[in-house]
Amino acid sequence: MNAESFDAIVLGAGAAGMMCAATAGGRGKRVLLVDHADEPGKKILISGGGRCNFTNIHIAADRYISGNPHFAKSALGRYTPQDFLGLVERYGIAWHEKTLGQLFCDGSARQIVEMMVQECVKAGVTAMLARTVSAISHRDGRFVVMIGGREYTAPALVLATGGPSIPKLGATGFAYDVARQFGLSIVHPRPALVPLTLGPDEALFRSLSGVSADVEVRWEKARFREAALFTHRGLSGPAMLQISSYWQHRTPIYVNFLPGSETGWTIQEKQAQPRATLKRILAGRLPARLADTLTERLGLEGDLGNLPDKVLRAAEAQLTGWAFTPTGTEGFAKAEVTAGGISTNGLSSRTMMAARVPGLYAIGEAVDVTGWLGGYNFQWAWASGRAAGEAV
Ligand code: FDA
Repeated sequence: MNAESFDAIVLGAGAAGMMCAATAGGRGKRVLLVDHADEPGKKILISGGGRCNFTNIHIAADRYISGNPHFAKSALGRYTPQDFLGLVERYGIAWHEKTLGQLFCDGSARQIVEMMVQECVKAGVTAMLARTVSAISHRDGRFVVMIGGREYTAPALVLATGGPSIPKLGATGFAYDVARQFGLSIVHPRPALVPLTLGPDEALFRSLSGVSADVEVRWEKARFREAALFTHRGLSGPAMLQISSYWQHRTPIYVNFLPGSETGWTIQEKQAQPRATLKRILAGRLPARLADTLTERLGLEGDLGNLPDKVLRAAEAQLTGWAFTPTGTEGFAKAEVTAGGISTNGLSSRTMMAARVPGLYAIGEAVDVTGWLGGYNFQWAWASGRAAGEAV
C-alpha cells in the first residue's frame, strides 16, 4: 500500500494538539494533524462562557492533581502564562484579567482557535479534519495510522485527543485505548470540575435552586473560597466545581457559609439585639432563602435573647463547617475536565514521551494531570503540547 510519510502525526486538533503541531512544524518537521471533528478546538470555542479563560497568571504545579505532583513542573516552567500571553498579544487579541488571575479574551474564544490554526498554517502543518482513525500499529520504528483506507506513517505519534468529558462535543477515551494498546497504564478516569449531586436527605437545599453564596468549601486538605450555587440536583458554582476534582465518593465536604465571620458574632448580636431572630441576623450576611433554610435545618426559631450562648456557639460551628455528603456527580456529560488518564509514571516530564515506547507521546487532558478551574487546564495543554512539539 502506498503510505504517506511524516515526521510526526498528532491525533487531536484541540488546544494541546494544535500547540504541539505548530511547534513541531515551526522546527521544520513535517506534521500531520488529525481530528474526527469537522472543526478544530471545539472545547476552546465553548470555554470560559465563549470568551476562553486561556491561562492563569498564578500557575503553579500544586494547582494540578496528578498521581505524580511533580510531573507538570518541567513543562509548565518552560512554557509559562507570559509566553502564551505574548502569543495572544502578537495576534492583537484584546484580553482582561477577570478574577483570581484568570485571563479571558475581551471578544470571543474563536480568536484563540483562529490564532492556533494560523500558527499551524504558518508552520506548514497538514490538517485532516472529519476523519476517523481506524487502526494504529508500529512497524520498523514507525507508527502506522490507518485513515480512510490509507496509511500514514511517522516515527513520532502524539496522543492529544483529550478525555471523555462532554461526549456530545466529540470527546472520547480514544487516547486511553491507544495508550493501552502500547502497554501504558491508565489512572482511572473520573469526571472533575463537575457539579455534585445531593440525595433526598438534603432535599431542602435542592429547593434553593438558583441561590448562590460566597463560601469556603473543604475536603481534607483542599479548600476553596469562591461562589457556590445551589441547583435542583445539588451543588455547583466555582467552589463546588473545584472541590469536586478532589472529592471521593461517600465522603463529606464541609462548607463554611460565613467565611471571614468572627467567632462569637451571634453572641454579640444577641447582646446588641436580643429580640432579633437567628434567621434575621443570618439574612444580613447571606441570601434570605439560604438563611431561611439553614435556620430551619438548625431548628433555631425564636428570639436570640432566649437562646443560650452554648447553643449559639454550636450553631456557629455548624454554619462554618456544614457537612454535605454528595451522592455523586453529574458525570462526564457535565464535567469540564477528566481527572486521571494516561499515567505520568511511564512518561518523560520533559518531552511527554513514553519511556517504553520511543516515539509515542501523550499531552493535554489525555494525561493524568488535571488543573484547577480558571485557565489552569489550557495552560497545561499549551505547555505539554509545546514540550512534545519541541521533542518530536
Ligand atoms: P481537547 O478536548 O481540547 O481536544 C481533543 C481533540 O481530540 C478534539 O478536537 C476532539 O475532537 C479530538 N478527538 C477526540 N477523540 C478523537 C478520535 N477518536 N479521533 C480523532 N480525534 C479525536 N479550561 C481552561 O483552562 N479554561 C476555560 O475557560 C475552560 N472552559 C471549559 C469549558 C467547558 C464547557 C469545558 C468542557 C472545558 C473547559 N476547559 C477550560 C477545559 C479545557 O477545554 C480542556 O482542558 C482542554 O480543551 C484540553 O485540551 P486538549 O487539547 O488536551 O483536549
